[in-house]
Amino acid sequence: MARTSQKVWTDVDRYFGEHLIAPDAALDAALAANRDAGLPTIDVTPLQGKFLELLVRISGARRVLEIGTLGGYSTIWMARALPAGGSMVTLELEPRHAGIARTNLERAGVADRVEIRIGRAVDSLQALVDNRAEPFDFIFIDADKASYPEYLDYSLKLSRPGTVIVADNVVREGAVVEAAHPDPNVQGVRRFAEKLAAEPRLSATMLQTVSVKKHDGLILAVVL
Ligand code: SAH
Ligand code: DHB
Ligand code: MG
Repeated sequence: MARTSQKVWTDVDRYFGEHLIAPDAALDAALAANRDAGLPTIDVTPLQGKFLELLVRISGARRVLEIGTLGGYSTIWMARALPAGGSMVTLELEPRHAGIARTNLERAGVADRVEIRIGRAVDSLQALVDNRAEPFDFIFIDADKASYPEYLDYSLKLSRPGTVIVADNVVREGAVVEAAHPDPNVQGVRRFAEKLAAEPRLSATMLQTVSVKKHDGLILAVVL
């Protein structure tokens, strides 16, 4: 993408970020800790984090499930939107990521309402099903894109009518439309889209985004 477009997207993110997002020491500290630990800088942007916070609030969710924690930046945004007594489960493969997230969540004062489960997300999801977990009200899918189809199956098993599902990174600079794309992450998103299309229990849409994270997009769905 032309550098000029990326500069405009970044400047616009900064402009609205400065206007709409109050300075926040805990969120800033989380990003700094992630950077110091060498984590990939693939957290949601501040404006996207706030978008998730607003969706959790608007939906009235009391139980939130996140698939893909990284350093817990998106986790903090969503956990803050929970009502008193609300709780969140977030799934992370890498123990090192989970450890950094734990510290970030503690610093943000939300560690008491967030449980981090370490391991392959499909295994943690199967365990939730096996233990007959109460349905989640809001599910954010953001781990390895190759497994998005499986994450959608589990999201349906762990939901109820009205559950909101958001899936990040479904556009990836337009790669999603390339049927023969060699990246398994792209193929995962394509199978995810096909599953959504064939799933009568869900109503879904897609929102393309440009931001400091280039051209991407998210799926928003509700369980019918
Ligand atoms: N939601 C975070 C970003 C998540 S990045 C935020 O916006 O702040 C994706 C995370 O998914 C990474 O930490 C990666 O380690 C994790 N991940 C990758 N494959 C996974 C798997 N199979 N199971 C669980 N987590 C996985
Ligand atoms: C990647 C993953 C993400 O969740 C994201 O928001 C951006 C990029 C990635 O794996 O490249
Ligand atoms: Mg993402």
